[in-house]
Amino acid sequence: MKTLLIFIKPYRWPILGILGLTLVGIMFELYIPTLMANVVDIGIVNSDIPYIIKTGIWMILLSLMSIVVAIGGIYLTSKVAAGFARDVRLKLFVKVEGFSLEELDRVGTASLITRTTNDIKQIQEVLSIILGMATRAPLMLVGGIFLAIMMEPKLSLIFIIALPVLVLVIVLIIKKAIPLFSTIQKKTDRLNLVIRESLTGIRVIRAFNQVSHEKKRFDVANEDFRDTAIRVNKIMALLFPFMGIIISFSNVAIVWFGAIQIEQGVLQVGNMMAFLQYALMIFMAFIMLSIAFMMIPRAQASAKRIGEVLQMEATIKDPLKTNGHVNQEGRIQLENVTYRYDGAEKPVIENISFEVEPGQTTAILGSTGAGKTTLIQLILRFYDPVDGRVLVDGIDIRKMSQKKLREKIGYVPQKVSLFTGTIEENIRFGKTDVTKEEIIQALEVAHAIDFVHEKENGIKTMIDQAGSNLSGGQKQRLSIARAIVRNPGFYIFDDSFSALDYKTEARLRQMLKEKLNATIIVVGQRISSIKDANQIIVLDEGKMVGKGTHEFLLETNKVYQEIVYSQSMEGEVS
Ligand code: UTP
Ligand code: MG
Repeated sequence: MKTLLIFIKPYRWPILGILGLTLVGIMFELYIPTLMANVVDIGIVNSDIPYIIKTGIWMILLSLMSIVVAIGGIYLTSKVAAGFARDVRLKLFVKVEGFSLEELDRVGTASLITRTTNDIKQIQEVLSIILGMATRAPLMLVGGIFLAIMMEPKLSLIFIIALPVLVLVIVLIIKKAIPLFSTIQKKTDRLNLVIRESLTGIRVIRAFNQVSHEKKRFDVANEDFRDTAIRVNKIMALLFPFMGIIISFSNVAIVWFGAIQIEQGVLQVGNMMAFLQYALMIFMAFIMLSIAFMMIPRAQASAKRIGEVLQMEATIKDPLKTNGHVNQEGRIQLENVTYRYDGAEKPVIENISFEVEPGQTTAILGSTGAGKTTLIQLILRFYDPVDGRVLVDGIDIRKMSQKKLREKIGYVPQKVSLFTGTIEENIRFGKTDVTKEEIIQALEVAHAIDFVHEKENGIKTMIDQAGSNLSGGQKQRLSIARAIVRNPGFYIFDDSFSALDYKTEARLRQMLKEKLNATIIVVGQRISSIKDANQIIVLDEGKMVGKGTHEFLLETNKVYQEIVYSQSMEGEVS
């Protein structure tokens, strides 16, 4: 809650405005019953028609003015609440963008999306209710009680019994509902997760005939959500009938004792009518307060979830003082690098050391799950090693800014991700200030130019969400072109040729060799893709079990020999 308060600060003036308007509005409203009492007790009793008309006009004017004031208040309230929500959303978005993968893994994408949308909306709603009601209610309560006591101190004794009972009921009910509110948010997360997974994985789900299974999974999450929502609503539904009963009994009591006093001649009818109105206002104030109270825990649950993200520190941060010495050497060194995923028992990368010479190609070979991608991500500083260090151009990458480091690298990830937009925009993602010629060149080197030209709109062709209107190999080649256009000192290809046929791959590799004058790290599973590398690193279950050229490893390394043998069995070695 506290972390969010700072976002309110810029709105202190509009909020003061809301308070001011509320105060004025309440004064108008509180005065009306007194005027009505006068109409009855003075106007009607004395048959003073001009007095009745004059006071009546005043009452109408006051009502109109209180409506105008209320509209002003509502306008300011929506402005503050919506502005506040926008600010928090932006802050949250920026914060999440700065997270390293570790934090993203920890919170989860689905939950981050709910927090940025649903949770903030929740707070926005509560904020507007609080600004609207919670400021009104206390003023109305104090004013109503004060005027009621001033008017009829004896009848006011009824409140001494009615109000504590009302408070007790509200407290009991809300106390039961609070824990359920945070449960509801968690169920929303779950629902979002299931929807997200089943939408992004729709092809796989259909291919494996798992539609009914997914439907069941959704059903479970959906019903779970419904059950909790019903439970909350059942509890909350008790609130209003109970309040209604208490208010009705109080009214009966007021009329009852009021009638007795009128009979005794100590109370006037108009005053009793006004008193009834004040009583109604007092109870209304209580209802408003209880609604506000009811909303607060819900907002608290959301605020906590947002606060958690805002307070999370990215584990990977830029150093305060970056090493200014930047040379374009083109060397990568790993020194005893070990990495363990958050919560995992065993390290996935263990004590790895090797050096990549400027301008040379190093290949990383290993079976699925050997830790190749993890190793690459350590070089990109998506994660920090738990032990050892990575040096790029002689500098520990923790001592340079992430921007500087990544500027040097053209990264082609294993899992291609393209963005909605044209092909050109996607290539420009690599570097914004490139000319069209450079884009065409990059597409040529990446062997993508042919299929791009075949498209009706060429490089202006729109790519759908996640590149769903392109083939796997086409996506891979665009992803390569995006890296090439940066013209970096280093290239990292993580299994980037897997979706290409042999011929295309061979041609592409030839092209890269000729055109790219840079240090290259290439991850591969096929011997044919990597055997020309200056150095091959063989990974097995996170450990380095071989290092050297193809010929050297073929002679001396058992694991390598096995891989070569198994692939030649499949006729894969060219
Ligand atoms: P990698 O993703 O580094 O393996 O995961 P790899 O060598 O690149 O595999 P392929 O060839 O692309 O398939 C190495 C290990 O780290 C774990 C995985 O379970 C795997 O065993 N891992 C990976 C995590 O625990 N968390 C992650 O976020 C990623
Ligand atoms: Mg991988």
